[in-house]
Amino acid sequence: MNIIFIGFMGSGKSTVGKLLAQRQLREHIEMDDLILHRSGRSSISEIFAKDGEIRFRELEMEIAKEVSKKENSVISSGGGVVMNKINIDYLKMGGFVVCLKTSFRELEKRLKGDMTRPLFQNKEKARELYDVRSVLYETYADHVIKTDHRSIVEVVTSVINIQL
Ligand code: S3P
Repeated sequence: MNIIFIGFMGSGKSTVGKLLAQRQLREHIEMDDLILHRSGRSSISEIFAKDGEIRFRELEMEIAKEVSKKENSVISSGGGVVMNKINIDYLKMGGFVVCLKTSFRELEKRLKGDMTRPLFQNKEKARELYDVRSVLYETYADHVIKTDHRSIVEVVTSVINIQL
């Protein structure tokens, strides 16, 4: 069974996924890294700027399909993975989906000054995305974990506990 983390940018999908994988001796898969590698670009921002978001989403769908064939891995998705239901259908095949839920106020603090996320450069637009996606994260999740005021280790422990 794969564990897949979904949630908004800055919710901790990568950090929590990496630590969980280390603790459980599983492979950690970072979907954005695979997308970047496939794109031939040097950063996610460069894919958005030069190829456009549509190209990014096409690559994301290819990668979602490929990683769904994995077993016993921890998969950290990108925040927009829920915008395409097909991605979720792939990821749910043999996978347990965990949503990391973080308030917008907390995300703003965590992502202050972050230039690596093209969709978090404009606060109003980011807030709109957050409102639309929050419903989707919770709808698609098999389990939701709140992360505000909780350390990475605490969140990882919560994930380990749901598997018991
Ligand atoms: C995106 C989130 C990013 C990355 C890309 C698009 C989004 O991943 O996939 O910038 O649409 O929310 P993180 O959630 O890891 O920041």
